Amino acid sequence: MSDRHYAELAEKLARTGDLSDGEFLEVIECRDPEFSELLAEKAREVREKYYGKDVYLRGLIEYSNICRNNCRYCGIRRGNKNVERYRLTKEQIIECGDTGYELGFRTIVLQGGEDPFFTTERMAEIITELKERHRDCAVTLSIGELEKDDYRRLFDAGADRFLLRHETADKEHYSLLHPEEMSFDHRMNCLKTLKEIGYQVGAGMMIGSPYQKPEHLLKDLRFLQSFKPEMVGIGPFIPHHDTEFADREAGSVALTLRLLSVIRLILPDVLLPATTALGTLDPKGREKGLLAGANVIMPNLSPTNVRGKYLLYDNKICTGEEAAECIRCMERRVESVGYKVATVRGDHVSKRKE
Ligand code: 5AD
Ligand code: FES
Repeated sequence: MSDRHYAELAEKLARTGDLSDGEFLEVIECRDPEFSELLAEKAREVREKYYGKDVYLRGLIEYSNICRNNCRYCGIRRGNKNVERYRLTKEQIIECGDTGYELGFRTIVLQGGEDPFFTTERMAEIITELKERHRDCAVTLSIGELEKDDYRRLFDAGADRFLLRHETADKEHYSLLHPEEMSFDHRMNCLKTLKEIGYQVGAGMMIGSPYQKPEHLLKDLRFLQSFKPEMVGIGPFIPHHDTEFADREAGSVALTLRLLSVIRLILPDVLLPATTALGTLDPKGREKGLLAGANVIMPNLSPTNVRGKYLLYDNKICTGEEAAECIRCMERRVESVGYKVATVRGDHVSKRKE
């Protein structure tokens, strides 16, 4: 493929936010690093137009690793008997939130397995208290599939955003990654419901998950174009030794970076994290993610004694650091690539409250 052809593709994608199916497949399949750099340059231009040099931090509290689900790729799946399970108390969660606030976080993310102990009532209480203590903080939930009334109750309690990766936009691929009792349609319906309620919604998928083909990624891009989530979380698949996918290859960092650029170009104002999984496969992965168009980083705020237990995949980074160390480390990393950490809520441009 000629340089000129690449330049034209990158330019078309930047100008229209769209390509034909064949062109998207080329973008997914071509491995030329120079093409990646072209796309990254365009992606940086677009991100800087909407968000300048700001990088938003989200403080992640992994409040429970107990999960009723059995996703085949996930290290804390119900069927993994080798996990030491934990759940933080409400007081511990609030304390993490306080620490995060003092450190400058203005978004708290509550992430957990689908733990039945945390009923909608209990979650609502926690959200209410977090919001009362820190009025200028956003609360993001990453707590899985619930019914409409529950999502609404949590929104009314003050939750602002919700992360629920769609995992794959292909129904058959979905069924290869998940046990039979999990439903693609239900997950997609959850995403729709969350949007209707008024959350800023995050979708996303793993790159290089087992059985994934370029056509699946094409479907993911088409889904993102039509659903228009406010946030998109993508990271490479990384095998976990206690799952049936233990011997699978990890996803490609280069392809993840390239897709970050593509997602920035199809959804110009999207909130796009450089994920921990990316940082796990490459020591400079998150910095490279920022340079590919990402504008969000999600350092860990969980108490140090539980961090090593929230392991969705092997070799996860930042499991030994204190929250304060992590945030300083992140500030340095962000500055090393010419960006700066912004101490604001960092809402989607369409829902700015600050
Ligand atoms: N490798 C990479 N990402 C994973 N996730 C779950 N298991 C893995 C893994 N083995 C991702 C899923 C989930 C998010 C919280 O973490 O996409 O939605
Ligand atoms: Fe956690 Fe660097 S971000 S130690």
